[in-house]
Amino acid sequence: MKQITTISEMRAEAEKLRISGKTIGFVPTMGALHEGHLHLIRASVSENDITVCSIFVNPTQFNNAEDFRLYPRIEEQDALMLEAANCDILFMPSAAEMYPATARVHFNFGELETVMEGAHRPGHFNGVALIVSKLFHIVQPHRAYFGQKDLQQYAIIRQMVTDLNFNLEVVRYPIVREEDGLAMSSRNRRLTAEQREIAPQLHHALVLAKNMLPNYSLLQIKNAVADYLNDYPEIRLEYFEIVDSVSLQPINEPEGPQEVALCLAAFLGEIRLIDNIVTVV
Ligand code: PAJ
Repeated sequence: MKQITTISEMRAEAEKLRISGKTIGFVPTMGALHEGHLHLIRASVSENDITVCSIFVNPTQFNNAEDFRLYPRIEEQDALMLEAANCDILFMPSAAEMYPATARVHFNFGELETVMEGAHRPGHFNGVALIVSKLFHIVQPHRAYFGQKDLQQYAIIRQMVTDLNFNLEVVRYPIVREEDGLAMSSRNRRLTAEQREIAPQLHHALVLAKNMLPNYSLLQIKNAVADYLNDYPEIRLEYFEIVDSVSLQPINEPEGPQEVALCLAAFLGEIRLIDNIVTVV
């Protein structure tokens, strides 16, 4: 696996690959890799000639300085995992390389970002769109892979790709879970043993909601989820929403086949976790 740290070298490599007719699959990450990330890498390896993974803990998408400071950084271990998953290129730029000066461009995704994560993490999606558009220009992929775990991020990237005519396909990959149902996340590493034990209740609450969907009103489902999680004092639910999976707007009572997403965010102590289930109603 080739490791690249400068934009100029990454760009030259991408241009060389494109000229020789190779397809480039791209998996942007912030590192602290887990099996969920590796599923994206393997999907890219199987669908493209060359797979590029980036690791960059992007300061502009953190609205909490402590979260940024404490974000796990284990680059050497990450590189070994990527190598074993047959990743071809690891792009790992420094913050000075990606942001030589304060970026002035601002994104506004309208209603896509006034709900859920966007509502609770001001500026977050601006930072995500900024770094992902920079990375797309540098890596020049044919396909880019994003996890359904961050459903709103996927929706925003897809909108950005459409609006700005990025010449690539955005692939949505299903959520990879631990055996007990907990969605894999780099932040899971920061959970205490007790918090880790009850964390799967977030997924259980979503399954409960999904099972209620055909037979109960949205209000009854919301109350049931809040009540269910209330039994776990260590869990503080931030939001639970039932939204259209594309517009991300809360649905009214479902009318005909529609892909909906049941989404939540919750704190266990200081650790904020998100999860969702997508289903057709
Ligand atoms: P990060 O949290 O490292 O996630 C990188 C990619 O892995 C994202 O597309 C995310 O949705 C996906 N992913 C994480 N956990 C997953 C799981 N359990 N199952 C499936 N996919 C999973 O998302 C980011 O980084 C950043 O915002 C980034 C896009 C790199 C921009 O900085």
